[in-house]
Amino acid sequence: MAQIIGGVGTSHVPSIGVAIDKGLVDTPDWKPFFDGYIPGKQWMADKKPDIAVVIFNDHGNTFFLDRVPTFAVGVAETYKPVDEGWGPRAGPDFKGATDLSWHFVDKLVESHFDPLVCREIEVDHGLQVPMELFFGRPENWPVKVVPIWVNTIQYPIPTPQRCWEMGKVLREAIESFPGDDRVVIMGTGGLSHQLQGSRAGFINREADEAWLDGIANDYEKYRDMSREDYVEQFGSEGAELIMWLVMRAAMNPQVEVKHRHYYAPASMTGAGMVVLENA
Ligand code: DHB
Ligand code: FE
Repeated sequence: MAQIIGGVGTSHVPSIGVAIDKGLVDTPDWKPFFDGYIPGKQWMADKKPDIAVVIFNDHGNTFFLDRVPTFAVGVAETYKPVDEGWGPRAGPDFKGATDLSWHFVDKLVESHFDPLVCREIEVDHGLQVPMELFFGRPENWPVKVVPIWVNTIQYPIPTPQRCWEMGKVLREAIESFPGDDRVVIMGTGGLSHQLQGSRAGFINREADEAWLDGIANDYEKYRDMSREDYVEQFGSEGAELIMWLVMRAAMNPQVEVKHRHYYAPASMTGAGMVVLENA
């Protein structure tokens, strides 16, 4: 059966992709951020997964506010990086792990989830940026992907508890998937940020640091928090962090933190990552 080789939580801020495009990775503004990902990238290179399950939200790029699925799963053969308005992104298309996607969709429906199933769709920075952070800019991606979209854009967003339940189904799907694929799960979004309203620019460094520590082995409080708690602590867009719960729920109750990185300069968001392995 397929095997979960680890779980990653990471920001997916679009300006990270722009910084890579513009060759700014080693500039004073960006170096402290990108340097923190070097061990994570090395971990990925050493672990050699075959498939990345990426949990992210679309940001009005492939779904718009006229039709917003609460949960969606891609079952396509290929996903193109969507043009978010600045022209097509550099980089290869993403190849779909189609069989695992369908297997997961089956398990979801058997478990009384009702996902939107996408045979043809593009992916925005929510998937692109985490892939670039952990796999660089290869000629071809070394993994196939299972994209999972979670609505964190338009209320009502799903509850953290529902995201947790989905992570349990994801684990069951991977561990009952025939073959010997090595699967990494990437929960994306956050950290604290708010892009709108009277709290625009809000960052909560203390809550971000606590999250990066707690998501490993003190996760119950995050699993049990309300959506309003997420918005209050992490900002209206920082509530994207509920997507890390899908990843965390698919791991063992006890995990080992392999890498951790946080960077919150005077910018719009707290940004960082953790790399977890089952203990
Ligand atoms: C921004 C967008 C995001 O999707 C995100 O997760 C963080 C920041 C932004 O536009 O700055
Ligand atoms: Fe986002």
